[in-house]
Amino acid sequence: MRIAVISDVHGNLIALEAVLADIRTQGADAILALGDYLSGPFDPTGTAGLFLELAIPSVRGNHDRWVAEGREQDWPVDALVRRMIEPKHRDWLAALPLNHVFEDEVFMCHGTPTADDVLWLDGVKPRGGVFQVTRAVIEREAEGFDYSVLLCGHSHLARTLRLSDGRLVVNPGSVGLPLALGSPDARYALIEKHAGNWAVSFRALPYDHQAAAAQANALGYERWATAVSTGWSTARDL
Ligand SMILES: [Fe+2]
Repeated sequence: MRIAVISDVHGNLIALEAVLADIRTQGADAILALGDYLSGPFDPTGTAGLFLELAIPSVRGNHDRWVAEGREQDWPVDALVRRMIEPKHRDWLAALPLNHVFEDEVFMCHGTPTADDVLWLDGVKPRGGVFQVTRAVIEREAEGFDYSVLLCGHSHLARTLRLSDGRLVVNPGSVGLPLALGSPDARYALIEKHAGNWAVSFRALPYDHQAAAAQANALGYERWATAVSTGWSTARDL
């Protein structure tokens, strides 16, 4: 079985369409989505419409919850997105589950298995920059989630590791909002089972990121335009 894993689209429909086109080229039996679908000053309405059409297994991200709830928080763009999208899009976000198990084997979450707003594989320093989380901390979060593959997003940092018992943990990176990787490319992952073992490969795709930056600029979000066109920003810069 070959599965495409996408996360953190953040309303960037142009990046999402590039990724879906590449998935068609690569071939996949399923597409799984890990949250933060709409929260960005690009095309949240178009992105929501496409996800409703795709109807793929999907879990909720912290921003999906915040947009659905209309919660006042740090990212003003969530309020913008809530105003832009339609009621049926809000209903879709509100109904997304915290986690989901695909085919009894692949566990899906946005942050950690128990929280949509907590980083798992990588830590982010208060003043910016990424640090390595210890093995003990990472393994503790996985306790009780006995699935061959554990998928997470949220950090926007594409990365995989194996727990000491062999379980594979994968973060596919971000489709629509590259952070701290120094590349504007759209990212996703393919996981594949061969002879009982899961392997992962990462894709980083060039796409028309200047068109996405133009959308952000047109809505008055210059720092988002910089982030999406360079890939060097961090969440603190937005
Ligand atoms: Fe995100």
